[in-house]
Amino acid sequence: MLILGIESSCDDAAASIVETSSPGIVTVRSSTVANQDDIHRAYGGIVPELASRNHVITILPVIERALKSAGCTLGDVEGIAVTRGPGLVGSLLVGLMCAKGLAQATGKPMIGVNHIEGHILAPLIEHRVPFPFLALVVSGGHTALFAVEDFGGYRRLGRTRDDAAGEAFDKVAKLMGLGYPGGKIIDDLSKEGNCRRIRFPRAHVRGAPMDFSFSGIKTSVATMLHSEARPIAPQADVAASFQEAVVDMLVKPTLAAARDLGVDTIALTGGVAANSRLREKLAATAADDGRRVVAPSLKFCTDNAVMIALAGSYRLLRGERDDLAIDAEANLAL
Ligand code: KG4
Ligand code: ZN
Repeated sequence: MLILGIESSCDDAAASIVETSSPGIVTVRSSTVANQDDIHRAYGGIVPELASRNHVITILPVIERALKSAGCTLGDVEGIAVTRGPGLVGSLLVGLMCAKGLAQATGKPMIGVNHIEGHILAPLIEHRVPFPFLALVVSGGHTALFAVEDFGGYRRLGRTRDDAAGEAFDKVAKLMGLGYPGGKIIDDLSKEGNCRRIRFPRAHVRGAPMDFSFSGIKTSVATMLHSEARPIAPQADVAASFQEAVVDMLVKPTLAAARDLGVDTIALTGGVAANSRLREKLAATAADDGRRVVAPSLKFCTDNAVMIALAGSYRLLRGERDDLAIDAEANLAL
C-alpha cells in the first residue's frame, strides 16, 4: 500500500510517500520538509499566524515534490494520513483541509493522525522495535513518557508539569543571545564547553518520579546571566552546563519508568531526541541498567511526514478511514 503522509502541526510543512504491507514496517519512498526557521528567527520564536500563512503557500508544492521524488502520482496513492492535532490550530487546518480536498477529489481513504503518536512510532521507521517498549517523547511542545503496548495502545506514565524540554533549550538560547531555534545551537556550542563548570539545580517532582519540570532551570540560567556577581564563564561552558542539567532531568525519570515497566527497550523520540548529549548519556545509562535505546536518525526526530504516514498506516491497512468531517484539534488527546 502506498501512503501519502502530510504534517503541518507547527512550523514545518512536510509530506512523504511510504510503502507498507504490514503494520509498522515501511519503506520510505520520499520525505520532503519546508522549514520556516528563516521566517521565525527574527521573532525569536514561532509566530502562529506566519506559520499558517506560509503553510498555505508551501503545502501543495511540498506534496508535489514528495510525489515526484517517489516517482509516483496521486493516482498511485492508496491512502492519505494527515496530522489532525495537537498543535497550532491554524497550522493544523492547512494540512488537514488539503488532505480532505485530495481525499474528496480522488476518493482515497483519509486517516487523521495524532502528532504524538507519530513521534512515538518514529523509531519504527528505521528499527524493528518489539512491543512493549517505553517511549520518551521530547520536543518543543511535549515532554512525556509512554508505555507502548501495541499500535494504538499507549499509556502515559509521566509528563512535564510546566515547560517542554525543547522550549527550555529555545528560551535559554534566546536569553544567551544565541539565536533560534536554540536546541541545535546549544548542542553544537556545548561540544566546546565544560559541562561541569556550573552546577545548575536538577529539579524533580516530589512524589512523581516519572514527571519532569523545566521552568526552574530556565530561571536559574536567567538569574545567573543577570547577576552582577556572576562567574565569568565562557558561553560554551554555560551552554554545556545547562544542557547537562536538562539531560540529567530527562534521563532519571526515563530510567525510573523503564524499571517500573520492566521493559528492555527505550525509544527516544521528538525534536530534542536529536540532541547528541541526550542520545549518548541515555544510551550509556540504559546500557548500565541492561536496557537499550533506539532513536530515529536526526531527520526523523524533528517533525516529518514519514512518522505520520507510519502512524496512519496500521489503520489504513485494516481498511479504516476517517469521515471528512473530522476537525483539527489543538489539544487532541492521545
Ligand atoms: O519535534 P519538533 O520538530 O517540533 C515539535 O513538535 O515541537 O521539535 C522541535 C524542538 C525545538 O525546541 C528544538 O530546539 C529542539 O526540538 N531541538 C533540539 C535539537 N534539535 C532540535 N534540542 C536539543 N538539541 C538538538 N540537537
Ligand atoms: Zn513534533
